[in-house]
Amino acid sequence: MSDQIIIFDTTLRDGEQCPGASMNLREKMEVARQLARVNVDVIEAGFPVISDGDFEAVHTIATEIKGPRICGLARCLPQDIEAAGAAVKPAGERGRIHVFLATSNIHREFKLKKAMDEIIRLAREGVAHAKSLARDVEFSPEDGSRTEPEFLARVVQAAIEAGATTINIPDTVGYAVPEQYAALITYLRSNVKNMDDAILSVHCHDDLGLAVANSLAAVKAGARQVEGTFNGIGERAGNCALEEIVMAIKTRPDFFGTLHTNIHSREILKTSRIVSRMSGLHVARSKAIVGENAFAHSSGIHQDGILKKRETYEIMDPEEVGWGGTELPLTKHSGRHAMLARLDHLGFKLTEQETKTVFERFKEIGDKKKFVYDDDLAALVEDSMSVAKETFALDYIHVTSGSTTVPTATVRLKTSEGARQDSSPGNGAVDAAMQAIDRIVNRKGHLAEYRVEAVTQGRDSLGEVTLKVDFGDGDLITGKGASTDVIEASARAYVNAVNRKELTTQRNKELANPPL
Ligand code: KIV
Ligand code: ZN
Repeated sequence: MSDQIIIFDTTLRDGEQCPGASMNLREKMEVARQLARVNVDVIEAGFPVISDGDFEAVHTIATEIKGPRICGLARCLPQDIEAAGAAVKPAGERGRIHVFLATSNIHREFKLKKAMDEIIRLAREGVAHAKSLARDVEFSPEDGSRTEPEFLARVVQAAIEAGATTINIPDTVGYAVPEQYAALITYLRSNVKNMDDAILSVHCHDDLGLAVANSLAAVKAGARQVEGTFNGIGERAGNCALEEIVMAIKTRPDFFGTLHTNIHSREILKTSRIVSRMSGLHVARSKAIVGENAFAHSSGIHQDGILKKRETYEIMDPEEVGWGGTELPLTKHSGRHAMLARLDHLGFKLTEQETKTVFERFKEIGDKKKFVYDDDLAALVEDSMSVAKETFALDYIHVTSGSTTVPTATVRLKTSEGARQDSSPGNGAVDAAMQAIDRIVNRKGHLAEYRVEAVTQGRDSLGEVTLKVDFGDGDLITGKGASTDVIEASARAYVNAVNRKELTTQRNKELANPPL
C-alpha cells in the first residue's frame, strides 16, 4: 500500500453548499488556481447537473486548471452522470466522475424507498455508466458510516466490480467516532475481496467536531484518500479541515510514520485566506493552523519559553504553513508594475479591465493611508471582482450623521444608462445608505448578517464589510466591500449584493425562457 495520502478537496462543491458561501465563476477560478498551487491531488469542482452555472464552473476548471485531477459529482442517475462526464471531459485523463448513492437503512427506507438488492443494482449501473465516460470513477455510498457493515461491503464490492477506482466512505451526518469509523475501514479492508483494486477514501462532516479525528483514525486504519475543505467550510458544521489533516500528518511522523501528502504546506495560509475571501466565510481567530491566533502567544511564560527555544511551546514552525515573511508594503508611489507583482505573489490573476479598476482603487487608498499591505490589496481585488459584470457601481456617497441629527445618506450609482441618485434618512448612517440604494435599484433588502473587520492593524486600516442580504425571497446573497471609510465599505458591499442579485435574477430568467 502506498504511503501517500491523496488530498481530495471539495471546497468548491461541499464547501460551497454552506449557506451564503456561493461563489461566482470568477471567485471559483481564484480558489481553483490556488488549490492547484497548494497542490491538492483532486479538486471536486462542483455538481454539474445542478445548474448551468455549476456545469460551466466545472467545465472551465477542467479546461484551465492544470495539475490536479478535476472531479464532478453525480447522483446515480443517467442525466447526472452524463453532465459530470461532459463537464470534466476537457481535463482528459485527469477527469474524474464521482457517483453517489445512499445506502443506510434510514435513507433506503425513507428517502429512496428501495430494497438492498435494488441499491446494489443501481450502484453497479451508475458506476458502469460513469466508467464508459471516464477512466477515473469514484463511488460514495452516502451515509456509509451508518450503513450495516455487511451490506456496505456488498455495495462496495459491486461498485469495484463495475469499475470504481476509488471507494469513498462518507460520514454524511457527522455521526462517527474515531475508533468505530477506523474499525469500519478495517472491516472493509478484510471483508471486500476486491478492496485492493480501489483506493479507500474518507469524507467526514464535523457535526460532533470529530471530522479531522475520524479521518486521521481512518488513515491509520488504511484509508489513502482524505476528502475535505480548506478552513473546514461545508454543510452545517462543515467538512474535515484539510489544513489540519496535512499538518497533523506532517508534524507527527512519530505516529504516522512514513505517511505523507503532496501538499506545499507554505501555501496553506494563502489558500485559507483566498477561500475565506471568495466564500465570504470568516475564519475564527482561534482556528488551528490558519486562525489569526494560531501562533500568537500572549502569556509571559510562553513568550519567554519561545524566545529561549521555539519548540518549548510551538509544535510547528509558523513559516511552514505560510505565516511570517511579510514583504515590504506598497505605498501610493508604487507603480502598476509593483502592484501587479504583489498580486501575482498573492495568487491573483486579473484581466486588463480588472487591473485598471484595482489600480485606480489602489491609488485612491494609497492617498488615504501610508502603507498598502498585502491584505489591503487582496481586499481591493475581492471588492473589485466579486461580480464579473456590474449592473450598478458606487459613484458617490455623502452621509450626515451625529448624536443630534437624523442620519441621512445621498448615494449616486453609475449604470449603463447613466447615473442615478437618491437620498434617504435611516436608523443610523449604514441603514440610511442602504435605504438610499434600495430606492435607486428598486429593491428592498433585509440585512440578515453584517460584519466589519479591519483588514490590517492601525487606525488607517481598510475596513472590509461582509454582509448577507435577503431581497424578499429567502435567498441569502453575500456582498463584500472595502474602504478606509466603513460607511463607504458598507455601501460598496450592499451594491455588490444588489449586483449579485441582478445577475441571479437574470440567469433564472434565461433558464426559464431558454433561447430557441
Ligand atoms: O457528505 C456526503 O455524503 C457527501 C457525498 C456526496 C460524498 O458529500
Ligand atoms: Zn459531504
